[in-house]
Amino acid sequence: MRTLIRNGTVVNAGGALRADVLVDGETIAAVTAPGVFDTAENIIEADGRYVLPGGIDAHTHMEMPFGGTFSADTFATGTTAAAWGGTTTIIDFAVQAKGTSLLATLDKWHEKADSHCAVDYGFHMIVSDVNDQSLKEMESCIAAGVNSFKMFMAYPGVFYATDGEILRAMQKATDTGSMIMMHAENGIAIDELVAQAVAAGRTDPVEHGITRPPELEGEATSRAIQLAKVTGAPLYVVHLSARQALEAVAAARDTGQNVFAETCPQYLYLSIEDLAKPDFEGAKYVASPPLRPKDHQADLWRGLRTNDLSVVSTDHCPFCFVDQKQLGRGDFAKIPNGMPGVEHRMDLLHQGVVAGEITLARWVEVCSTTPARMFGLYPRKGVLAPGADADIVVYDPAARQTLSVETHHMNVDYSAYEGMSITGKVETVLSRGSVVIADGAFHGAEGHGRFLSRELSQYLV
Ligand code: URP
Ligand code: ZN
Ligand code: ZN
Repeated sequence: MRTLIRNGTVVNAGGALRADVLVDGETIAAVTAPGVFDTAENIIEADGRYVLPGGIDAHTHMEMPFGGTFSADTFATGTTAAAWGGTTTIIDFAVQAKGTSLLATLDKWHEKADSHCAVDYGFHMIVSDVNDQSLKEMESCIAAGVNSFKMFMAYPGVFYATDGEILRAMQKATDTGSMIMMHAENGIAIDELVAQAVAAGRTDPVEHGITRPPELEGEATSRAIQLAKVTGAPLYVVHLSARQALEAVAAARDTGQNVFAETCPQYLYLSIEDLAKPDFEGAKYVASPPLRPKDHQADLWRGLRTNDLSVVSTDHCPFCFVDQKQLGRGDFAKIPNGMPGVEHRMDLLHQGVVAGEITLARWVEVCSTTPARMFGLYPRKGVLAPGADADIVVYDPAARQTLSVETHHMNVDYSAYEGMSITGKVETVLSRGSVVIADGAFHGAEGHGRFLSRELSQYLV
């Protein structure tokens, strides 16, 4: 089966040009000047459209056990929503519970995801129990295609790792060439502030933001960078939200240290003012790190331009407002942490193109090409070039849409961007050559998505 996408503007991280894309089976056969090929079983007219490599969301949490409940999207619903939004690969987090092994955890996450995903998927591993066995098992995870390990400086008693534990895991990462991903917030200090707020009767959702100040993200980020320096480990700071953390990352990168960072759309578009919405509405915006004062946003956009922020991921971790966020009514500390977003990343970052914050090519780079390289998927993913998987998005840059819970496909009962007016819309999506979104309908299938065994990060020398 051959598909010809013709007369579109093909956008790769290197730039844009008018070209046709010929797909043969699951891969791209050719990217040519318009008109070189004129026959195929399936022809998609892309005049006036962008033709993009499928988005790669390197940070999602489907069916994640957290805060006494599970994130509301399954691998089936979450990857379907991803496809609607032009994301054709997710990298989700397997979560080691304390006292369990990494390999048993990986098996468990394969059981949840295998034959359920609508698009391709890989895993990172959350290491919450550092001991001789789990350090040894990091090697087996790498052999199984899972070579990035998330650790937490936050959430004491749950995922938290001490500096010594982080150091040991980093030493293993150095030995194996694998990546340490860090949730960088000073959880010990934060827990004190949280306890003080609750004791003083300050229990509204906005306290989530007040008790997790940006300085404590900056401090933890700096500490993680120093630990990475001492051990030689590559470090990827996840969901960076604060200017102070960005400054630490930029300074480390200036010295040539292998330090990378991602931010998320919620930190570019939402703020602590959303957390302060009345009638417990703020609970919809509780995620960690928290939404920051608006003036951090300009720094994050600049970080995206300067490549101190290399990737935009969603940290998609949806909890329904009605029966899950309510767990924290009367005590903000019990609100399950996480926000929905996997469906809207490409659209939201396109607003950055429209507003002149980033270029068209940079949009593709931070949403697709760099995540592919960062996590060992390039050039199979992240580029429109012969031989690459035919994960392709046809995007109408002039279409208008309004984001809403009424129209989104994520399995969650609210939109964090309710009523937001967007320029641009995903029109057609191919996943390995199969049309999964077209004509306003989902044509994919649960189980089409394949597990991606990843190579080591392609940014490390
Ligand atoms: O609040 C968040 N971010 N929930 C998901 C878990 C994590 O820390 O990434
Ligand atoms: Zn985190
Ligand atoms: Zn996360």
